Parts: sequence; structure tokens; C-alpha cells
Amino acid sequence: MLKLQRGQKLVVATHNDGKLREFRTLLEPFGLELVSAGELGLPEPEETGTTYHENAELKSVAASKASNLWALSDDSGLSVNALDGAPGIYSARWAGPSKNFDDAMVKVHTELMGKGAMAPGRRGAEFIAVLCLSTPEGETAFFEGRVAGTLVWPPRGTKGFGYDPMFQPQGHMRTFGEMEEKEKHHWSKSEIGLSHRSRAFSTFVKECCPDD
Ligand code: IMP
Repeated sequence: MLKLQRGQKLVVATHNDGKLREFRTLLEPFGLELVSAGELGLPEPEETGTTYHENAELKSVAASKASNLWALSDDSGLSVNALDGAPGIYSARWAGPSKNFDDAMVKVHTELMGKGAMAPGRRGAEFIAVLCLSTPEGETAFFEGRVAGTLVWPPRGTKGFGYDPMFQPQGHMRTFGEMEEKEKHHWSKSEIGLSHRSRAFSTFVKECCPDD
């Protein structure tokens, strides 16, 4: 089992500022020294995998090999039931080279309209996150989290990132875009978190983080 030590330097294998901010919030209690792949000037590997696991692994392994440090990556996306799981692993790419998620949300909504999916019951979706922890020696470990919800239109809220403003998690009246980060990720050792990322993190933390 891979176990991090308090004070250990860990590369967060991402160039996405939204994800980096969330990693920092989620890992704050564990006394790790976090540095991102972006801050280290590491190249952003091409996501050539066909699954979340493959893409998470290639990002994490590239970062730990290049830095000679342990690295943690996240590959995540939005899987829309009526679109057969799209955009899925292509969620970031639907935002185009300028990473415009207003356009990506319009695209999701337009595709749903094309399927006649207007009623909330036809607009079910899931956020999925797969974390990969890797060492320079080539060991890896994976952690997965999911959250189900409904896609609303128009999008609501300006918090979060990506598709957050159109995603209303099951059992809640507000979208992730309307929630404070602490509420989106809320979790504790005895309680399951709300977001896909916090659910994946709760397993990761139990297995790999030093006791807080
Ligand atoms: P990747 O993991 O870098 O391929 O990017 C995943 C993409 O999925 C992000 O750029 C977002 O568009 C979307 N995504 C993943 N997690 C979230 C989330 O928590 N909120 C909103 N969008 C997300």
C-alpha cells in the first residue's frame, strides 16, 4: 500500500486551476507540500487513453517520472445518460481550445434538446473522478468517486468550474455552481462526501494520507 508521510512533497499532476484549487482544499489537513505540474513547468501530456483510469495514470506517471516525486492526478468528466455517456473523458475537449465552458454547456444542452430531453427525468448525468497516485519507481494506485444529478437549463451560479453551473446533485436544490467549495466537497472520515472528487478523495485519504 502506498502511504504518504507528513511534509512529503507531492506533485498535483494538473494544469487545470479549478482542479488544483480543489486538491489544495481537500488535502489541506494532511501537512503535505503540494506543487502542481503547471508550477514545475512540466509539459501537459496528451490524454490518449480511452478510459478515466488510463488518462489518470498517464498524467500521474508522466509527472512522477519527470519530477522524481510522488504524483497525484485526477481524470474526471461529466457522463450524460441521454447522450450515451458523452462528453465523458472528452469533457474538457468539448470546451474547445479556449476552454470555454459556457460553450461546452450550450453544446450539452443543445445535444439534449436534439434528443428531446427537456424534462428533468430525461436529463440525468453523473460526474466521475478517478485519482491516480504514482511513484517514480512505477507503483500506482487508483481511487474512484461518482455523484449522480440532473442537468438544469439555464446554468445557475458562478462558483466552481467546468460544468458545475448546470449540474444539480441528487437530493439538492442548488447546482454545484451555486455551492461554496466546502459544501461541494464536504466530507469527513465518517461521512461520504458530495462531489465525485471528494468521494474519490475520501478513499484515497483513508488509504494513503498521514493521520491528521
Ligand atoms: P480532465 O480530467 O483534465 O480531462 O478534465 C475533466 C473535465 O471534466 C474538466 O475540464 C471539466 O470540464 C469536467 N469536470 C470534471 N470535474 C468537474 C467538476 O467538479 N465540476 C465541473 N466540471 C468538472
